[in-house]
Amino acid sequence: MAQEPPAEALDKLQEIFKEHEGNRGHLLIVLQKIQAIYGYVPPFTFEPVSQVLGVTKSELYGVLTFYNRFHLAPRGKHTIRACRGTACHFKGAPSIIETIKAQLKLPPGKETTEDFLFSLEEVACLGACGISPVMAVDEETFGNLTPARAGEVLSQYQAQAAQQPAAGASGEAGEKQEAN
Ligand code: FES
Repeated sequence: MAQEPPAEALDKLQEIFKEHEGNRGHLLIVLQKIQAIYGYVPPFTFEPVSQVLGVTKSELYGVLTFYNRFHLAPRGKHTIRACRGTACHFKGAPSIIETIKAQLKLPPGKETTEDFLFSLEEVACLGACGISPVMAVDEETFGNLTPARAGEVLSQYQAQAAQQPAAGASGEAGEKQEAN
């Protein structure tokens, strides 16, 4: 989700804090709501979350790092989930993932492109083993991939983003294959 203007985002933060004040059991909900605003959980929210809910910063950080749904840095507009599970692995997932990283120019240890168009996640299984190897871009699943086909899919998103710099990619690239 795109980052909102700071003033509007801060208003929403205040609403969240007001609604959940003193409810330490609401930590997960509060963090999810913050991530829905910014696309990640910004470090400047740690202190107020800790104070408003009555949790320690180590508890907060423990939750943020335990659940991989939370992100601690800004994310790309599109999330690529590349499967490295067993079925995909034996059908060439490693070379597909290498192709994705090379095309996105992702250095080792980085998962988000410099232009914030993509974030890459390597996942254990996308539940579509019947059409492995598989990757998903946002809600679209692409199966029976080859490195070349994966590159083509990403090229279509990149081309759309280049044509619509203000709006970014529309997510309509490539043919959709439903997960089995
Ligand atoms: S192992 Fe890749 S979709 Fe299941």
